[in-house]
Amino acid sequence: MTEVSMDTIVSLCKRRGLIFQSSEIYGGLGSTWDYGPLGVELKNNVKLMWWRTVVYERDDMEGLDAAILMHPRTWEASGHIESFTDPLVDCKSCKKRYKADDLSDNTTCPDCGGELTSPRQFNLMFKTHVGPVEDSASVVYLRPETAQGIFVNFDNVLTAMRRKLPFGIAQIGKSFRNEITPGNFIFRTREFEQMEIEYFVKPGTDKEWFDFWVKERFNWYAKFGIRKDNLRLRPHEGNELAHYAISCVDVEYRFPMGWSELEGIANRTDYDLKQHIKFSGKDLSVFDEKEQTRYVPYVIEPSAGVDRSALAFLVDSYRQETVRGQKRVILALHPLLAPIKAAVLPLLRNRPEIVAMAKQLAAELRTHFYTTYDETAGIGRLYRRQDEIGTPFCITVDVQSLDDHQVTIRERDSMEQIRLPIEKVRTHIEEQLKQAG
Ligand code: GAP
Repeated sequence: MTEVSMDTIVSLCKRRGLIFQSSEIYGGLGSTWDYGPLGVELKNNVKLMWWRTVVYERDDMEGLDAAILMHPRTWEASGHIESFTDPLVDCKSCKKRYKADDLSDNTTCPDCGGELTSPRQFNLMFKTHVGPVEDSASVVYLRPETAQGIFVNFDNVLTAMRRKLPFGIAQIGKSFRNEITPGNFIFRTREFEQMEIEYFVKPGTDKEWFDFWVKERFNWYAKFGIRKDNLRLRPHEGNELAHYAISCVDVEYRFPMGWSELEGIANRTDYDLKQHIKFSGKDLSVFDEKEQTRYVPYVIEPSAGVDRSALAFLVDSYRQETVRGQKRVILALHPLLAPIKAAVLPLLRNRPEIVAMAKQLAAELRTHFYTTYDETAGIGRLYRRQDEIGTPFCITVDVQSLDDHQVTIRERDSMEQIRLPIEKVRTHIEEQLKQAG
């Protein structure tokens, strides 16, 4: 198990401005979280590194940002209206509600011993209405996956970007599920963000591409710092598969509550495109020039969660050590994921020349990467603060800097310090970030 508890992570996130409980001043809204000033940076960095890896660094991918609200027929076609359900049971005495799958005995309430109702299907999609009239004709759903926005735009992207198969479409965006048992901080929530790829291939090549994407996605988490011991692949059993998939492998992470899904890679076959052809009447097949025939592509889908990834990166990077009798907490985040890249700290805050020099350096660095300036405590405390939020580089300006125009750069994990001319600080940090990436 990863040594850190979820409570420790939740409390660090609150204390250091990463993640707050939503609507806290009203007592909070259950299992809903707000990303604070540093949390939004971490989350943006996770998304940026994913986008960079799967879109910019490949020549077979396009990006997309589809609307959350979609034509309601989408969800009939996708099978979500019929199949995106959980069986629920209610206790007739205490009125508590359970997912039938979570109970070993489906007849007795585990809380009060009361009798349970027989299971009924509960659809996880949030419903709302468009326009001022709340009738059945105006019903729309908050999307439960971003994937369908990609399927309905498949032909638009293919045509506009003059693509040939195989190629993929990547999208990042919010999804919503009325989960019965949300919990474990940002692991399972009702509003969350997904990073999804739909990779379109010729039938018959799907297994090969499936294996390719499983490997790619596993390696992505390792590349951005997650220890391989804390990652594993778990193929789905037949009875676990979603209604659209013939195979699925989860990338799992050893979270504080145990091994749990970080990302799923599924072979969705031609299920979705064929359903949309049926429901919309639009031809979504492609022409195979070599064989002079048309076919409906198969789809390999690597589907990741932004929030779950952020949680895994936080948990995995948490370190606690004792240095010269003092507790030191570090978020050893990959430098490209770290919310703040550099902190400029004046060694003596009552020396205006030192303060001015440090502020000027921070202003210069800020135009290149996220830099902070802090003079609100002694240097030991300032270092500890930056370690706890994962800032990879701290730069101190001291009395000697006034004479030799050199400053000290301290690296977070090794605590190694080097002295550099002030005008070389930017390129030094940029080189370090480049090497890390
Ligand atoms: N399009 C396929 C799909 O949505 P999924 O396994 O239901 O598949 C994919 O979801 C990923 O989305 C999960 O691996 C997880 O990272 C994230 N995810 C799903 N439900 C979530 C929830 N309630 N809260 C946070 N993340 C969630």
